[in-house]
Amino acid sequence: MLKLGVNIDHVATLREARYRGREAGEPDPVAAALICETAGAHGITAHLREDRRHIQDRDVWQLRERIKTRLNLEMANAPEIVAIALKLKPEIVCLVPERRQEVTTEGGLDVAGNLESLTETCQRMKDGGIEVSLFIAPDPAQVEASAKVGSQFVELHTGAFAEHFNQKQARNVELERLVAAAKQAHGLGLKVNAGHGLNYQNLAVLHVVPHLVELNIGHSIISRSITTGLSTAVQEMLRLMEGYRG
Ligand code: PXP
Repeated sequence: MLKLGVNIDHVATLREARYRGREAGEPDPVAAALICETAGAHGITAHLREDRRHIQDRDVWQLRERIKTRLNLEMANAPEIVAIALKLKPEIVCLVPERRQEVTTEGGLDVAGNLESLTETCQRMKDGGIEVSLFIAPDPAQVEASAKVGSQFVELHTGAFAEHFNQKQARNVELERLVAAAKQAHGLGLKVNAGHGLNYQNLAVLHVVPHLVELNIGHSIISRSITTGLSTAVQEMLRLMEGYRG
C-alpha cells in the first residue's frame, strides 16, 4: 500500500505569522499531526530549518513524544541539525537542500557534488538507528550518487512534474523522468518516496511511477483543510492513493 506522510510545516508557518518568538500559539502543528494520524496518515513530516522559519525545536520534540506513527525529519546536512536529529531519533531523516550550493538545477539535493559529507552523515544516522532519505531531482547521476553514499531511500522531487501538470507534453517528459529514476533507484536497492507539489488534481497521474513507498504531501492537504477540515482532507488524499499498483 502506498503510504502517506503529511508535512505539517505549513501549520507552523501560519502560527509563526502571528506568534513568532512566543512559546505557544495557534494553530498547533502537533495537534494537527495527531488529527492526520487519526485520519489514517502513515507518518508525519516536519522540516526543522536552520532559520527556524516555521517548525521550532519544541515542535519536533513534542512530535517525537506524541505521534504514534513515523516521524520523518526533513533537514539540511548541517552540523547543528545533524546533532539534533541524532538526539531526537526520528525514524527517518530526509536530507534536503537549504542553501544554493547544495541544490541541483532541478531543485533537489546535489548528492553527486557532496559525496563525502553525505556519506559521513548517512553513516552517523545509521549508527544512531535512523534511516536516511535524500531529496533528489529525478536525475540519473543523482540517483547513482544516492546509492553510493549509503542512504536507504531517495525522495524523488515531483516539483517539476507538478509545475508542468497542465502542459501535457512537458508533464509527460517529467513523468518519464520520474518513472526512469524510480526504476533506476529500485534497481540499485534504494527505496523510493516522492513529494513536492502533489495535490488532489495531479495525484492520479503519478500512479504510473513504479516502486513508490511513500508520498510526502503538505501544502495541498493543509490548504484543503481550511475548507474541508484536516481529517477529511487527509482521508480524501488517501482515497486518491488507493489502487496504486507499484
Ligand atoms: N518533500 C520534501 C522533501 C519537501 O521539502 C516538501 C516541501 O516542504 C514536501 C515533500 C511537501 O511539498 P508540498 O508542501 O508541496 O506538498
